[in-house]
Amino acid sequence: MPDVLVTRRMVDAAMSALDGLGEVLGEVLGEVEVYEGPPTAMPRPDLLRRASGVSGLVTVLTERVDAELLDAAGPGLRIVANHAVGVDNIDIPECTRRGVLVTNTPDVLTEATADLAWALILACVRRVAEGDRFLRARTPWIWDPRMMLGQDLHGRVLGIVGCGRIGQATARRALGFGMRVVYHNSRPLPEEIAAPLGARHVGFDELLASSDVVSVHCPLTPDTRHLFGASAFRKMKASAVLVNTARGPVVDEAALAVALREGEIFGAGLDVFEREPEVTAELLDLDSVTIVPHLGSATVGTREAMGLRAVQNLAAGLAGGRPRDLLNP
Ligand code: DGY
Repeated sequence: MPDVLVTRRMVDAAMSALDGLGEVLGEVLGEVEVYEGPPTAMPRPDLLRRASGVSGLVTVLTERVDAELLDAAGPGLRIVANHAVGVDNIDIPECTRRGVLVTNTPDVLTEATADLAWALILACVRRVAEGDRFLRARTPWIWDPRMMLGQDLHGRVLGIVGCGRIGQATARRALGFGMRVVYHNSRPLPEEIAAPLGARHVGFDELLASSDVVSVHCPLTPDTRHLFGASAFRKMKASAVLVNTARGPVVDEAALAVALREGEIFGAGLDVFEREPEVTAELLDLDSVTIVPHLGSATVGTREAMGLRAVQNLAAGLAGGRPRDLLNP
């Protein structure tokens, strides 16, 4: 009887699918333990204790799946089904070495995340959140030709750092705003993908110097940690905005706060944070920063699709099959 630990309750549709898993597997499912957070993630000692002896783990991005957790789970663990597309929380080589399958939830959150990147782009260039705060503070005002001026998008350049599925979906939306697209990837996109986007592959420094909006969509790896630090900000236009819907540590938040304060860039929109869920205090005081609490995939439909996909992957792994979103090489 496989036991399963779910480290954060998913939306109802996914929880119902999990309840029906026994039927899908053709065997009685053992205990399914579900952690009921937020506001906090499952404390690590609890996670290690509750994982003991399970066959399947459904994790979210706050759970570090490493040798310690795999040791705690023991040799019966067959699959870690991550409820996210990003898997920087999981040591995949270690899982592979131990024969533990790892899956994620790609594709289903692409459009929702690209929409949120655009919500932040628009909020930053047109100072939407700042205007909202201004009015809520009951600030006296009158229409004024010089008031709260933002930046234009039409005819400007969007720079995509990491032009995978979400980066491409973000780039596609730029065409509707009359923008041109440049991107930086480890490898140029195939022509049949780049051409309809009118997207030009450029070096990182050229992207920084030529973009009016820089949108981050690369995974977090040792190479991308603090990719955006003091020297990157110095190369950007003073009128440019930076938007990050990927992973927080790609941006050095202390350096970002300095760059914003010194006018090296115009604004920043952040969905993710370097030390999530903490937000660097200096950023909270800056009107040029728009922040939301990691909402990239947070729509009703997308969270349902993610949860169902995680449960399908879990079922396949527990049944001894090959899950659709298998990540082990
Ligand atoms: C992911 O899937 O990696 C997001 O960050 C959470 O939806």
